[in-house]
Amino acid sequence: MKYGRIVGWGKSVPSQVLTNFDLAQRVDTSDEWIVARTGIRRRHIAAESDTTATMSVAASRAALAQAGLVPQDLDLIILATTSPDMLLPPASSLVQDMLGARCGAFQLQAGCTGFVYGLAAAQGFISTGLHRNVLVIGAETISRNVDWNDRETCVLFGDGAGAVVVQACDEPTGVLSFVLGSDGSGAQHLHITLGARETMTPEAIVRGDHLIRMNGREVFKFATRVMGQVATEAITQAGMSLSDIDLLIPHQANLRIIELAARHLDMPMDKVFVNIQEYGNTSAASIPIALVEAIEEGRCQDGHNLCLVGFGAGLTWAAAVVRWGVTDRPFAMSWFTPIAKARAQAEVTLRTAQTMASMRALTAQHAFKKRAGKAVEAAKSAASTALLPLYTRVDRRYTRDKRK
Ligand code: ACO
Repeated sequence: MKYGRIVGWGKSVPSQVLTNFDLAQRVDTSDEWIVARTGIRRRHIAAESDTTATMSVAASRAALAQAGLVPQDLDLIILATTSPDMLLPPASSLVQDMLGARCGAFQLQAGCTGFVYGLAAAQGFISTGLHRNVLVIGAETISRNVDWNDRETCVLFGDGAGAVVVQACDEPTGVLSFVLGSDGSGAQHLHITLGARETMTPEAIVRGDHLIRMNGREVFKFATRVMGQVATEAITQAGMSLSDIDLLIPHQANLRIIELAARHLDMPMDKVFVNIQEYGNTSAASIPIALVEAIEEGRCQDGHNLCLVGFGAGLTWAAAVVRWGVTDRPFAMSWFTPIAKARAQAEVTLRTAQTMASMRALTAQHAFKKRAGKAVEAAKSAASTALLPLYTRVDRRYTRDKRK
């Protein structure tokens, strides 16, 4: 059986930030209330030019570069979202076209749980040997469906995208297990009414049928019950116990939900990744953004076992156990990134010039003994002086680009 290992990752969040203080100007709320009841301090909101597809493409390019792949290497694109650019076509096809990939692409909707569903689907395609490289994206411009007059929901949500490249490998790393759940009898607790069932009329828009409606207390109760349960099931299915998990990456909906789930699992909070304070609930993008930030902070090391767990509209829930392990690549970045290519070329040129200079000078050393000894150093230093500034410049650019 093949395993689906995560070999590339990237995120994209809008630069526009909305703080609790900004929200307190619009609705009857306060920073104290929002922080105490949710843990959220800021959220990033899509600019007019940002869409689910554009943010997906930015996150995917970063993931591909990290994986050392070009879009043509992809065998499948899975985009989890509840806020596609249009009802038709699926945003996944827009992403495929904008990336320049030549493969199948589909969009899946499972509320905030969508990314874990996507990861499970990728593992399915990979384990059966059908596909080798699958791009899984979670992306949202959910702010467009937020009722900015409803203080119970408008403080919660934000926009963004996260993407991973899942690649077939033979070693048991990557997605080791997953559990998916759904209970449509809870649909009324979290919904946007407008769809094919109802014609879009001016009256429907005035009623706000295109906006998120939520029974916060019911969702809260459901979430605290299901998170620990599904995580435990996925961990057991992977043949592990809770103590084998190095990092829990939960859906970032409410810090209190995360803390209660951690308590249920008897997991200390230093083993739980939290970034809700910065982004709020980015729905299907929340787990991949958290995963990318956990990797960037060095919290996912080779051999670590991660548990990704989410819940959302549907009601849906899911968890996956992922063993972290990335193949060594000399320059980490791929030839796909022009700056990475320039850096690698500059390094090769520098090394070649130094070697050539040393060899020439060594030949001279044999002939001229003492005098040539100085020539060796002079030649080496001339090569370094000439090429080091160029290499340093390119290296600095490369490091800066990698951080973005
Ligand atoms: N500012 C100030 N007061 C508020 C606010 C606010 N932003 N929002 C609600 N309140 C008030 C309520 O009106 C209520 O007042 P009342 O007692 O006078 O009626 C009071 O605060 C307490 O209300 P609760 O609903 O009990 O507040 P709670 O502590 O449960 O927090 C919240 C509300 C944050 C919405 C919480 O229920 C929650 O996080 N639920 C889960 C939501 C969630 O995770 N949704 C996403 C699911 S994932 C997806 O697929 C999109």
